[in-house]
Amino acid sequence: MAPALSDILRITSPLLMFMFLTFCMGATNLEAQAGGLANDEVEALLEVATQLGKKGWNSNMNLCNQTVLTRKPDDDEVVCSCSIPGGVCHVVGIYLKRQDLNGSLPKAIQKLQYLKELDLWANYLSGNIPPEWADTKLEYLSLGVNRLSGTIPSYLGRITTLRFLNIENNMFSGTVPPELGDLVNLENLTLSANNLSGELPLTLANLIRLKELRLSSNNFTGRIPEFIQSWKQLNELEIEAGGFTGPIPSNISLLTNLTELRISNLLGNGSLIPNIDSIAGIEYMMLSNCNLSGKFPEYLTNKSQLKILDLSFNRLSGPLPPSFDGLQSLEKMYLTWNNFTGPIPQWINTRDRSKKPVECPEACSKERYSMHINCGGPAATIGKTTYEADDDPGGAAKYASTIDWQKSTTGHFWDVNSSLDNYIAQNMSILRMNNSVLYTNARLTPLSLTYYVPCLANGNYNVKLHFAEIVMRDNRSYYSLGRRVFDVYIQNIVVLKDFDIVTKAGGVDKVYIHNWTALVTNGALEIRLHWARKGTTMSPKKGTYGPLISAIDVESDFAPPNNGRRKRFIIAGAVVLPLFLIFILLSSLWWKGYLGGRKSRDRGTIDTFI
Ligand SMILES: *[C@@H]1O[C@H](CO)[C@@H](O)[C@H](O)[C@H]1NC(C)=O
Ligand SMILES: *[C@@H]1O[C@H](CO)[C@@H](O)[C@H](O)[C@H]1NC(C)=O
Ligand SMILES: *[C@@H]1O[C@H](CO)[C@@H](O)[C@H](O)[C@H]1NC(C)=O
Ligand SMILES: *[C@@H]1O[C@H](CO)[C@@H](O)[C@H](O)[C@H]1NC(C)=O
Ligand SMILES: *[C@@H]1O[C@H](CO)[C@@H](O)[C@H](O)[C@H]1NC(C)=O
Ligand SMILES: *[C@@H]1O[C@H](CO)[C@@H](O)[C@H](O)[C@H]1NC(C)=O
Ligand SMILES: *[C@@H]1O[C@H](CO)[C@@H](O)[C@H](O)[C@H]1NC(C)=O
Ligand SMILES: *[C@@H]1O[C@H](CO)[C@@H](O)[C@H](O)[C@H]1NC(C)=O
Ligand SMILES: *[C@@H]1O[C@H](CO)[C@@H](O)[C@H](O)[C@H]1NC(C)=O
Ligand SMILES: *[C@@H]1O[C@H](CO)[C@@H](O)[C@H](O)[C@H]1NC(C)=O
Ligand SMILES: *[C@@H]1O[C@H](CO)[C@@H](O)[C@H](O)[C@H]1NC(C)=O
Ligand SMILES: *[C@@H]1O[C@H](CO)[C@@H](O)[C@H](O)[C@H]1NC(C)=O
Repeated sequence: MAPALSDILRITSPLLMFMFLTFCMGATNLEAQAGGLANDEVEALLEVATQLGKKGWNSNMNLCNQTVLTRKPDDDEVVCSCSIPGGVCHVVGIYLKRQDLNGSLPKAIQKLQYLKELDLWANYLSGNIPPEWADTKLEYLSLGVNRLSGTIPSYLGRITTLRFLNIENNMFSGTVPPELGDLVNLENLTLSANNLSGELPLTLANLIRLKELRLSSNNFTGRIPEFIQSWKQLNELEIEAGGFTGPIPSNISLLTNLTELRISNLLGNGSLIPNIDSIAGIEYMMLSNCNLSGKFPEYLTNKSQLKILDLSFNRLSGPLPPSFDGLQSLEKMYLTWNNFTGPIPQWINTRDRSKKPVECPEACSKERYSMHINCGGPAATIGKTTYEADDDPGGAAKYASTIDWQKSTTGHFWDVNSSLDNYIAQNMSILRMNNSVLYTNARLTPLSLTYYVPCLANGNYNVKLHFAEIVMRDNRSYYSLGRRVFDVYIQNIVVLKDFDIVTKAGGVDKVYIHNWTALVTNGALEIRLHWARKGTTMSPKKGTYGPLISAIDVESDFAPPNNGRRKRFIIAGAVVLPLFLIFILLSSLWWKGYLGGRKSRDRGTIDTFI
């Protein structure tokens, strides 16, 4: 992306500018060009600034920077090239990222005929792409994290010089125009996190130079097209919650250059897991929530470069392979919520040098009628209610238990440095709601979070789930362009689907309490939050997504018995959910696998999850 051209000069200071003029152009007329830039381009830049809502530029300043460009452009900079014949400098790159510009996409871009790179990532720009842009020679166009809307215009297909196009995290709707297939030089295309619908046009098969393609979090229909086999040079394919129906085309096996394959949340009747043995260099593989059946593909255990494997939320069955020795690079593996059978394989036990699986919790010594948890926060007392603390740091495969309740989190934040994984959210602003101690911290999960309350007397319970969006903002800034969307299940019934806290609460830092009556019949209550990979992942920051919960109240809607608590000893396995946590230390690196087993006595099977 960096135009690492030694011939690009930037003008910062009069001194540098002087050097530039002397060095590049000899003793030519100093007054003739403002900043060495062609006069019409100075005017065009000022028009661009006006249309973007960019303050502070004027014709008396050097709008182009003068340095040999050997680094990534700054967030706020204009780059010129002076090596183009004609003796003047021309604007070749405009980078205005994270500036909260609140105008629209500037028509005047058309007047900068030498412009190759335009990066307006993370602003507050509205409207659509102007028709004038069809006449540009742009190669790199990044418009992600803005509030652009309308349909993707067909004239975008006329910028055939484009190699990079990113419009993610906007509100584009409608279908993808067939003309996009004219962009035959495209290497990287990202359309994720919009509201695009309809089927992908056949013409996209012409994009044979694609190396990276991302279509996640949209509302497409139809199947993932067979013509994906045309994209033979693809390194990365990401279609998470694109709206598509399965099955995955078997010809995906022809994409042998893939290093990253992420497909999730396919609709429909499902299929056997596709054979991808031919993809030798695979490093990241996610086929999650695709209704896949069949056995765990044994050839995967030979993929020496595989770092992360996520086959969670499918219907895979049968035993796990006896040996995973070939997975020399493996860091994380998620097999959550499948239907594997047989014993926990030996390889888990033999590689486990740190912790033993968590034992089944103790038998209940008494029944309880209520439970209050301050999710992600410290213990707190409000009125007569005592909230228990839930402030352990969390992790990619983490099980925590207190005497009264248990919790498991699964998943890591993709595409961010793992040191930045954060399983507790912290307020960004001072909170002014009542009982703010409940909302100041919240429990966060990148994929799935389950609270499990055992030892409850059977009957109906009023469950209150407290939510407040404390991370995303609602100011006129790219900080407000995120959409956190997730699902909540109580006793395995979906009680909130495509839930967006901000929408329900009427803004950020505001409380929404969801009330639900849950029936407890086996002495336990399970509350599960799940990210179905909808919404956005890039605003305010890369990796901002996932279910967030502030507090939980569970109260029986019947009176506890008055005369002392009946003590009843209940056999553990029959009442509580046995959970297993397996941390495995593999020579120098951590390998984390988490199998949560729900043993069904009737079926004699283990559904692995987490
Ligand atoms: C496009 O993706 C490739 C490979 O995935 C990457 O190496 C390259 O830098 C990207 N190109 C641009 C223009 O960003
Ligand atoms: C110009 O480049 C220098 C050095 O890379 C940088 O410090 C400065 O902020 C840039 N100025 C502008 C206006 O972009
Ligand atoms: C952009 O923000 C400025 C304040 O920073 C405001 O004066 C202006 O009206 C806004 N423009 C638009 C188009 O909203
Ligand atoms: C998405 O687009 C459809 C039309 O294609 C529209 O009905 C729907 O309201 C849009 N959704 C959002 C969240 O804007
Ligand atoms: C997706 O499209 C369907 C119609 O195909 C529409 O009913 C639904 O509201 C859309 N979803 C969103 C999130 O806009
Ligand atoms: C796969 O990638 C390698 C190097 O990255 C390249 O030489 C080769 O041509 C690619 N294969 C295909 C089918 O594009
Ligand atoms: C899939 O690839 C095979 C070759 O491996 C080819 O024979 C078949 O026609 C392809 N299917 C489609 C639908 O393109
Ligand atoms: C799923 O299967 C049912 C019953 O066989 C069938 O009616 C339905 O059309 C199928 N759905 C899809 C998306 O193929
Ligand atoms: C998965 O596929 C089966 C049939 O193969 C179907 O009955 C079931 O509804 C599908 N599940 C989902 C979540 O669509
Ligand atoms: C794994 O690779 C070895 C050596 O190449 C081969 O003998 C074996 O059959 C492979 N196993 C699977 C399951 O593909
Ligand atoms: C899981 O396996 C059991 C027995 O093998 C079977 O009865 C059950 O239907 C399976 N569940 C799913 C969701 O496929
Ligand atoms: C849930 O109950 C609380 C009172 O405990 C009330 O303030 C809140 O409005 C209720 N929520 C909904 C969505 O009805």
